[in-house]
Amino acid sequence: MAKRLGVITSGGDAPGMNAAIRAVVRQGIASGYLMVGVKRGFRGFLEDEYVNLTARSVSGIINSGGTMLHTGRCPEMKTKTGMNRAIKAIKELELGGLIIIGGDGSLAAGNALSKQGIKVMNIAASIDNDIYGTDETIGYDTALNTAVESIDKIRDTATSHDRIFVVEIMGREHGFLTADVGLAAGCEFIIVPEMGTDFHKLAKGLKEGKEKGKTSEIIAFAEGCGSSCEFGYKIEKLTGLEVRVSTLGYIQRGGRPTARTRILASKFGHAAIDLFHKGKINQLVGITNGNVSAVPINRAISLEKKFDDKTFKVLKTLSV
Ligand code: F6P
Repeated sequence: MAKRLGVITSGGDAPGMNAAIRAVVRQGIASGYLMVGVKRGFRGFLEDEYVNLTARSVSGIINSGGTMLHTGRCPEMKTKTGMNRAIKAIKELELGGLIIIGGDGSLAAGNALSKQGIKVMNIAASIDNDIYGTDETIGYDTALNTAVESIDKIRDTATSHDRIFVVEIMGREHGFLTADVGLAAGCEFIIVPEMGTDFHKLAKGLKEGKEKGKTSEIIAFAEGCGSSCEFGYKIEKLTGLEVRVSTLGYIQRGGRPTARTRILASKFGHAAIDLFHKGKINQLVGITNGNVSAVPINRAISLEKKFDDKTFKVLKTLSV
């Protein structure tokens, strides 16, 4: 009898999760597995919500945002009771393994399950791009493009009104997304948690920008740096210039995945099954220097992704 494999999306949705589900399901079937979808993240195990997945169940989803399996954050998975219930469900369902598509919370769940003897594979998917062991996560490129397009629009108002804008970008406690958005949108300044903020230097820079004839100045501000409204207020006080604040919010998580995101998702899904089938289990699948890569989950979870300040150096010269 064919072995059963589970697939789950967990944590915040990211564009491209559907493309990853499609790849996992179709590659899984091609490798001889029966595929079972767990619904609403790990809550599906606690509330017995499953769906059998065939090649046809995942038709027409490569281009859609969100996740057909639904997702969620499940704090119960951090408790012994929640973990035991999930393990019991995995055994009752006779799942030979579980493919987990998600970000750092999903990695923690994967690590905990693997320690209890469950065979898992994690696929890196998050708009935050903050996971050690992969240069890029599924959904990141799409969110980056969405944020850049939004700032292009904000720039019109900023220029027409000669205003400074503080634009808040997602990323939890990290600034990976904000730094790339800032560079790609031609922002004048980037504020991220990984680098300190010198308010007086920033105010001086903004005023100098005006003196140099800049009609608009945009500050890409990472949500992990605190309240963008308070930040904007402080900048207005320090510069005496007109400041507006705009929070991009959840539009960054939605929408059709870009071709790059879809390609990444397809390759990650394919590799996760391929490695699992060959017995290389408990790995995080990602991309390193352009090649699909795998790193043990327990290593990925214990190490922090390094923030590269090169972007700041580039921006400093280009945003004059
Ligand atoms: O991890 C993705 C993310 O969108 C973060 O950028 C953000 O801080 C968080 O999720 C928001 O979480 P929630 O969907 O639970 O509000």
